[in-house]
Amino acid sequence: MTTFWSLYVTVLTLGTIFSLTWLLLSTRKGQREEVTDETVGHAFDGIEEYDNPLPQWWFWLFVGTIVFALGYLVLYPGLGNWKGVLPGYSYLDNDKQTEFSNGQPGWTGVHEWEKEMAKADARFGPIFAKFAAMPIEEVAKDPQALKMGARLFASNCSVCHGSDAKGAFGFPNLTDNDWRWGGEPETIKTTIMAGRHGVMPAWAEVIGDQGVADVAAFVVSKLDGRTLPEGAKADVENGQKIFAANCVACHGPEGKGTPAMGAPNLTHPQAFIYGSSFAQLQQTIRYGRQGQMPAQEQLQGNDKVHLLAAYVYSLSHQAEPAKAE
Ligand code: HEC
Ligand code: HEC
Repeated sequence: MTTFWSLYVTVLTLGTIFSLTWLLLSTRKGQREEVTDETVGHAFDGIEEYDNPLPQWWFWLFVGTIVFALGYLVLYPGLGNWKGVLPGYSYLDNDKQTEFSNGQPGWTGVHEWEKEMAKADARFGPIFAKFAAMPIEEVAKDPQALKMGARLFASNCSVCHGSDAKGAFGFPNLTDNDWRWGGEPETIKTTIMAGRHGVMPAWAEVIGDQGVADVAAFVVSKLDGRTLPEGAKADVENGQKIFAANCVACHGPEGKGTPAMGAPNLTHPQAFIYGSSFAQLQQTIRYGRQGQMPAQEQLQGNDKVHLLAAYVYSLSHQAEPAKAE
């Protein structure tokens, strides 16, 4: 916040509190102390009002709210750029005097979260570190590790890959041992650490609408061996030529894919993430696709990603996958 807005907020907030205090005290002045049965002298629809002072409990309750508000504004951030002086929030770790990630003291929701994360890391860090020192295949056999991995997966990955990790439209199934980027344990870890960006170019401009239909027909009938829908106007042989000229660079001469660039195997339609019908294939080829797997290194750190990689690996290498509780 700029200094101007900081002052603006501060003056407005404190001004309101002080003027309410003044109002409270000034109306109290000159009021009688004792309870009477005199009225203030006017009537509304026959209802009259006794000329009595504010009840004590009401007065002190009001004073209490003012004291509370001022105390709150000292401890917590509320007045412009004032950070508050809540004890325990000068540092992330008061013993080691490590700072919060934004380098500033004081209570905020983010700082509270950072403190809880630091506490959890101190408690579970040694367990994560123990597993991080083991090869991923070994970790993938440890029931405790898999349980922890399943929990991390549920809170960080299931929004996209599904709580059963079976994927959805646009998000790959992680349980089928059919990999776009490679299924070696270390490759899976690299995928999760650094993220992945699959780029399938758009072909409408290059090969035209008929070309898109032809090559889609080729993918359907030759690569995965199904029949075309009745009445489809497409020339499979021309599609084959287009495939050889434009697609093999990434998807390989037999269409089996190139994991190094995330170009999927086109002979396994059950693993397609953008649909495998004739119409959906044309859509994919015409407009292209850009799948984005977000990098987790900054968010989770090496040790948690190691566990996640082991968990993902276990999903296609175990009869009975682990479950988060
Ligand atoms: C520059 C490399 C490249 C070329 C050339 C290329 N592709 Fe792709 N293709 C990819 C990548 C990478 C993906 C994965 C995109 C994603 O995950 O979002 C993909 C995805 C696809 C898919 C979707 C599979 C699924 O999971 O749903 C189909 C179908 C496809 N390509 C067909 C073709 C055809 C047909 C051609 C030739 C006209 C072609 N591709 C040319 C890189 C390429
Ligand atoms: C925002 C959605 C999103 C989240 C969250 C997400 N992913 Fe992904 N993930 C994707 C997409 C999209 C792809 C496919 C990328 C592509 O097109 O090649 C992917 C691909 C992958 C792959 C590669 C699959 C293959 O076939 O090679 C793995 C492994 C993976 N994710 C694991 C994870 C794990 C573990 C987490 C949790 C830490 C996670 N993902 C969180 C969207 C997400």
